Amino acid sequence: MSQDIYPVKPHIAERAYIRSMDEYQRLYRLSLDNPDWFWGEQAKAITWFHPYQSVLDSDYEEVDFSWYSGGRLNASFNCIDRHLPDLGERTAIIWVEDEPGVYRHITYRELKHNVARVANVLLNHGVRKGDRVCIYMTMIPDLAYAMLACARIGAVHSVVFGGFSAEALRDRIIDAKCKVVMTANEGLRGGKKVPLKKTVDRAVEGMSLVEAVLVARRTDTDVEMRAGRDYWLDEECHRQRSTCTNAWMGAEDPLFILYTSGSTGKPKGLMHTTGGYLVYAAFTHRLIFDYHPGDIFFCAADIGWVTGHSYIIYGPLANGATTVLFESTPLYPDPGRYWRIIDDLGVNVLYTAPTALRALAQAGDSWVKKYRRDSLRILGTVGEPINPEVWRWYHDVCGDKRCAVVDTWWQTETGGVLITPLPGVTPTKPGSATLPFFGVKPVVIDVNTSKPLDGNGVSGALCLASPWPGQARTVWGDHKRFRDTYFSTYPGYYFTGDGVKRDEDGYYWITGRIDDVLNVSGHRIGTAEIESALVAHEAVAEAAVVGYPHDIKGTGIYCYVLLNSDYQNGDAEQLVGALKQQVRNAIGAFAAPDIIHIASGLPKTRSGKIMRRILRKVASSEYEGMGDTSTLAEPDVVQRLIDEHKLQHP
Ligand code: WTA
Repeated sequence: MSQDIYPVKPHIAERAYIRSMDEYQRLYRLSLDNPDWFWGEQAKAITWFHPYQSVLDSDYEEVDFSWYSGGRLNASFNCIDRHLPDLGERTAIIWVEDEPGVYRHITYRELKHNVARVANVLLNHGVRKGDRVCIYMTMIPDLAYAMLACARIGAVHSVVFGGFSAEALRDRIIDAKCKVVMTANEGLRGGKKVPLKKTVDRAVEGMSLVEAVLVARRTDTDVEMRAGRDYWLDEECHRQRSTCTNAWMGAEDPLFILYTSGSTGKPKGLMHTTGGYLVYAAFTHRLIFDYHPGDIFFCAADIGWVTGHSYIIYGPLANGATTVLFESTPLYPDPGRYWRIIDDLGVNVLYTAPTALRALAQAGDSWVKKYRRDSLRILGTVGEPINPEVWRWYHDVCGDKRCAVVDTWWQTETGGVLITPLPGVTPTKPGSATLPFFGVKPVVIDVNTSKPLDGNGVSGALCLASPWPGQARTVWGDHKRFRDTYFSTYPGYYFTGDGVKRDEDGYYWITGRIDDVLNVSGHRIGTAEIESALVAHEAVAEAAVVGYPHDIKGTGIYCYVLLNSDYQNGDAEQLVGALKQQVRNAIGAFAAPDIIHIASGLPKTRSGKIMRRILRKVASSEYEGMGDTSTLAEPDVVQRLIDEHKLQHP
């Protein structure tokens, strides 16, 4: 691993909130020694309608963490209304449309009016405190209005990424029992249309649960509207007032549900609550991106994932920032898109994913150098391990060696960033997320002994030893699953599912998932979900899915399938196409397999357990060091798989 250290950047540290490593170390220790004091201080950045009684009330046995108990607040009030007296005319959101060069500035005052109208529409359709609302949109301002409108009236939003299929959307609507679905007639992304409303129609077909579908208008395209169920959002809004009271929410009342994939079973709806989440999102946004009033913050993630929730919507807006809402892709219409936006808008902070950076680096430096980028100060990355050479490219070329790179590690479950450098202050190493944020206590667990490894120069499973305000409280409707998934593997610790190395300097290097979750282009996909999609096809008897290194996506999806005897002599090419389509239908295009390997057998132990280690090796074209294969029921299967792999995917 790379050990070169990039020194601190005095010109950035100079105006940062934490200015030196000494200060970081001192505060970090305080945050662990006295969390009540530390998180009490941070809660002052939020406006409370009623003060809380205790900072943290936790029960480890029950895996129950309650932050700011007794406090009352509203996330929409904190993200909008409280800024109005001073910042009403400040731009809250800059919407960057798919079409290059088209920008729309939405002030905090406009945001309030739009959110209040949408909130009134929801109330008018019978949505009440605690009800769930599913939001299935692409990156348009209505998405922000919809989330904040839910928060305003105390409804719980469940945003489903606009790339999910009808089937996946349906599962999520049912699981959260959403009574209203908000969508758009269609979306636009990279010059292509996304048939959102059509997908919703298929998802809710025959479902009595969903009482109303509210449809935003992104394009001129007409869509089928079912009388009594479907309503145009703009028409509904015209009938509503632009004021709507903010509900007084308890700190522990749910703010949102967000589904994510795990090793087993169906995706889990992680539930985040109002007080702790908001404190954490706002605080991390301010420190890690060194937010100062007037800064323009561009997080290029999709709001359908947690990064967009915390760092496009809640964190920046709670801080009164100007946040960029980007409808398009980094490659549309060309690989200069990010840099053009940065120059056009004077962006100070860019936050994106390694997968985008790899694609841009591959397109060449000239796309970057064509633009000045002199407004940039901080470059953030998230979602997967960043290759050291891509980190250096980001730092040297995109940031002209002048900007601080922050590699931020976190998860849907954590609500906000947990391991990260502080910009300009923490000496960085390309590829390392460096050191824990305040209040965060990472522990490296030996996977063989299940014991924590002390000292430096160790690697194992990444766990967390202490609670923090932004953590998810439960899996919607299934607390046992929450406990079993995260708190039972290593009792007493939250297990992240990631592997990690703590180097000689105490720096953390995330090595990627060590469970059966793939990180494909920064999207989390459970291998079990893909497998169940494949075996649902009549030709497939058995399927095993693993990841393999992929230049752009980081991890590619490699599927081994065993066919039923009736299909063994059929048209293989056609079948491969059908199986890929099958996964698109079940999950979405972003989960489409890269490789389908029609296999003559799978490496199973005598007790029938598939040895995935071997499958991963073959998929990665690594034929040496298969380890002990003596327990295999049928040892020749390994060589057969290697031969098939070479033949089918030379
Ligand atoms: C991975 C995204 C290395 C990790 C915010 C984690 C990372 C999963 C990093 C969570 C990083 C995220 N370096 N790996 N800086 N950030 N990951 O829930 O495997 O979509 O467990 O949340 O992404 O993905 P999720």
